[in-house]
Amino acid sequence: MTQRFEEYRDFIPDFDSFLQSHTRPLPNHLRVNLLKSSPASLVRMLREKGVTLRPIGLGDGTFYEAPRTLSLGKLLEYFLGYIHPQALTSCVASLILAPRPNSSVLDLCAAPGGKTSHMAQLMGNTGVIVANELHQRRHAPLVHTLSRLGVCNTVLTAYPAQEFPLKERFDFVMADVPCSGEGRWRFPGEPYPGDASKFRSGMVETQKRMILRGFDLLRKEGIMVYSTCTYSPAENEGIVDFLLKNREAELVPFNYAPGMEPGVSKWRKEEFDGRVQRAGRFYPHRIDSVGFFMAKICRRG
Ligand SMILES: C[S@@+](CC[C@H](N)C(=O)[O-])C[C@H]1O[C@@H](n2cnc3c(N)ncnc32)[C@H](O)[C@@H]1O
Repeated sequence: MTQRFEEYRDFIPDFDSFLQSHTRPLPNHLRVNLLKSSPASLVRMLREKGVTLRPIGLGDGTFYEAPRTLSLGKLLEYFLGYIHPQALTSCVASLILAPRPNSSVLDLCAAPGGKTSHMAQLMGNTGVIVANELHQRRHAPLVHTLSRLGVCNTVLTAYPAQEFPLKERFDFVMADVPCSGEGRWRFPGEPYPGDASKFRSGMVETQKRMILRGFDLLRKEGIMVYSTCTYSPAENEGIVDFLLKNREAELVPFNYAPGMEPGVSKWRKEEFDGRVQRAGRFYPHRIDSVGFFMAKICRRG
């Protein structure tokens, strides 16, 4: 796997510390669910059990790091829906999209519901979220997340995202698409789940169709976030470049998290539209979390 990453040496800054960062296990991050609890009461409850949470100074003050040895999914506070174990970078995607209360949101690829439930929190359980997930086996975990966390502004659909019906338009679209998942992997010990390049060749075409459909489903003033948890420019800037070439789309700059790196405009023999540099890349040696790519997109003009 480290050899696979070699092809990214030219654009990942401080590449050797990037490789090195994979030898540490993923930190135990959680989001306090404001629909049911508050940071102050949750921190107090866990302190009474001898657990100290470290606040992460990011976003709306609901992100914490728990001790590595603590199984968050076994806590009573988890079953009560006060907390959601979620990668920090995954939370950043919803913060960048920033869906407003009373708006309409389409989450194109929703299971297991980390971003859906975070968006419901940002919307104060108002408006409506259409949480779409193609695979039936993923519906139970999605519904479990939403009901445990007290989300009640959401309806579920099961379309292929790339063919989601064009009957309605949405204020916000979250396109957190299936990808080769390189950013989730840490070594040693964890086998890489499959051959990323084989996976990618079929996936890129689907990702292109998904980003076009997500964009076509936006209202005039709508905002979309396209995100993956992988490093490959083919699945990231390449897909955004395809959108820019085929639609009147624009990239909105953002700078949400310290340590975010800009999108890459060149890879191998490909040169992408320079606007892809307005996207954000998140690496584990810059933010100790899952590696992510995010682009914030609106209609031109
Ligand atoms: C990256 S995961 C989404 C994670 C989710 N947004 C979250 O934050 O919890 C991608 C999801 O897309 C689903 N999926 C795969 N192909 C799909 C398709 N063609 N249409 C809709 N969903 C699809 C997968 O089953 C998977 O649950």
